[in-house]
Amino acid sequence: YFRLKVEEILSEFQLNKEELKEVMKRMQREMDRGLRLETHEEASVKMLPTYVCSTPEGSEVGDFLALDLGGTNFRVMLVKVGEDEEGSWKIETKNQMYSIPEDAMTGTAEMLFDYIAECMSDFLDKHHIKHKKLPLGFTFSFPVRHEDIDKGILLNWTKGFKASGAEGNNVVGLLRDAIKRRGEFEMDVVAMVNDTVATMISCYYEDRSCEVGMIVGTGCNACYMEEMRTVELVEGEEGRMCVNTEWGAFGDNGELEEFRLEYDRVVDESSINPGQQLYEKLISGKYMGELVRLVLMKLVNEDLLFNGEASEKLKVRGSFETHYVSQVESDSGDRKQIYKILSFLGVLPSELDCDIVRLVCESVSTRSAHMCGAGLAGVINLMRERRRQEALKITVGVDGSVYKLHPCFRDRFHKVVRELTPHCEITFIESEEGSGRGAALISAVACKMAACML
Ligand code: BG6
Ligand code: GLC
Repeated sequence: YFRLKVEEILSEFQLNKEELKEVMKRMQREMDRGLRLETHEEASVKMLPTYVCSTPEGSEVGDFLALDLGGTNFRVMLVKVGEDEEGSWKIETKNQMYSIPEDAMTGTAEMLFDYIAECMSDFLDKHHIKHKKLPLGFTFSFPVRHEDIDKGILLNWTKGFKASGAEGNNVVGLLRDAIKRRGEFEMDVVAMVNDTVATMISCYYEDRSCEVGMIVGTGCNACYMEEMRTVELVEGEEGRMCVNTEWGAFGDNGELEEFRLEYDRVVDESSINPGQQLYEKLISGKYMGELVRLVLMKLVNEDLLFNGEASEKLKVRGSFETHYVSQVESDSGDRKQIYKILSFLGVLPSELDCDIVRLVCESVSTRSAHMCGAGLAGVINLMRERRRQEALKITVGVDGSVYKLHPCFRDRFHKVVRELTPHCEITFIESEEGSGRGAALISAVACKMAACML
């Protein structure tokens, strides 16, 4: 009886093929509206031009500094870029992770960028390169309206960042100002890219068919190479430009209403940006654990779990962390892992409780994979239509903790994408340290272009 009741409640998370097709179609519609001048403003999917183009003119060689802000960790990297007959190659030399303190994330933009400059200073000291004025590539994983590859304003923060005084401002300017304020070292900021773009570029150097980049981590987003003639926000007809879809905001105009459940509404209402990033909130790691917790609480309240009694810990928002979802689903079947997590959260579960918790995790993470799959299928089918190809062969570069660390996300996701994209042959590759290397590579290209223009 318990199981049946639980399954009934969890069945809301299931999406059948027709529903997934519907999500895909609506995503495509919003993408199309985002690309068009007359509908761009009102479209939820912003389709932001990145000024990363399909015609690289070769690249500079040498040392580059790369910054990576917006995922789980903030990173500073030193990357060596060289060139051979095949194009560029890179050797990552140094890499340091820094955690961003909460008050820097939600204080003022000056505080945040001063902290970034402080980390850079530490890094440069450690590697004895403070005297060098290196070219710098900045992976900044938020929606940016670019004017060029090294210039763009932050449209809005996502993923729990909220530093005031940044929205509406040129992000590269904020970084340059902070470096100037510090007054200890100089940098030549040559490129700013989204993490999806950096991921795509880093994979492109391994596989020249890589024309899509996707992140499923703290946030969720994708970019792809679009025909210039359809990128109406930028003049020019020839070649392709990478478009940062910012699909996380899909749903913000009501496109996902019938798919959003009571738990999704609670997650959204208690977030720092209610009403925004609604698609992302169904999928990404920032919200997955909390969704599971809310479902668990619902089951407790219905007397279907833990004898109708939740621990104080479990009642606290955020206490069920997203990586627990991976751990629960990795349990070998002896329930040991699940038991350990639940006792850490202060409940003493029965075997049935453990099984139910696993079902909840599976429901939430499977919906996440399927929703995300519908989005990517939308992107890939759109590319195939544009290119008028009978069969599209394409590689997708992927990064992010949910994709890489969850035991089943990947397979469930691939399955849905492939089901929804007939006539497409898709290869997925995972990028390693993608953002740092991608940012360095694009900076190398940008340097060369700048040099050509001089
Ligand atoms: C990292 C990339 O590996 O993955 C980042 O270098 C990216 O640029 C991140 O933002 C996304 O994953 P997560 O899980 O850290 O948000
Ligand atoms: C959020 C950001 C987007 C980023 C994604 C993955 O959706 O808005 O820019 O690419 O998270 O990190």
